Amino acid sequence: MLTEEQAREAIIIALDMGREEALALCDRLGGTARWVKVGMTLYYAYGPQVVQEMHDRGLKVFLDLKLHDIPFQIEGAAESASRVGADILSIHGLGGSAMIAGARRGVEKVAPERDERTRLVAISVLTSMDQAALEEIGVSLPVADEVARLAKMAVGAGSDGIVCSPKEAADMRALLGPDALIVTPGVRPAGAAVGDQKRVATPAAAIQAGASKLVIGRPITQAPDPVAAFQAIVAELCA
Ligand code: C5P
Repeated sequence: MLTEEQAREAIIIALDMGREEALALCDRLGGTARWVKVGMTLYYAYGPQVVQEMHDRGLKVFLDLKLHDIPFQIEGAAESASRVGADILSIHGLGGSAMIAGARRGVEKVAPERDERTRLVAISVLTSMDQAALEEIGVSLPVADEVARLAKMAVGAGSDGIVCSPKEAADMRALLGPDALIVTPGVRPAGAAVGDQKRVATPAAAIQAGASKLVIGRPITQAPDPVAAFQAIVAELCA
């Protein structure tokens, strides 16, 4: 069971929409919510300014850019993302330990200028990929083993945690220990539309399984009253 403040801190609202709509939503949610997720679509269109605009509304930002390049480039990219205000930043585990260590060096450089260092979360296997897709790129391990291998490697190399589905959260918590940041999308409050998500869990079940933060989009953003929808999830997490 979480306190009300812990529950607010645990929810990251995915802003999968245009800038005007996202800002209008943030204006409504700013006093209540704590975190939003800005993905590539919003970021590539509007750049660092959109991160600042979220901060101006009192919101912290999970910048979901899924970085993947040579270590030198990623060190610079992570430094830049940290400087423009990413509070959590995603990177691809498949970039390997040298790349992840580069990302960590990048965010460490900016840490003295920030209240808190930007935290890194690694993507293991994209959930859009199945066994056949993995084999196509030369990976023959079962998906679950590949996810576990990449997660362990990423955290060992300097990532603060990982992104995984709620169904994997318990195994990942056991594997990575109590300090890892485990971020899970695919969360649906009881009774909410599942939409295109296939492997869903309720917010309370995801937290119970060991998730640190839940990425929730449409159940909040497309609700008739997004603030009420957010509050209902907070209440569920505190119950
Ligand atoms: O609207 P919904 O709650 O499904 O949004 C979840 C967010 O998490 C979206 O931004 C989506 O891109 C992201 N995501 C996901 N499943 C993954 C990885 C990311 O739904 N496996």
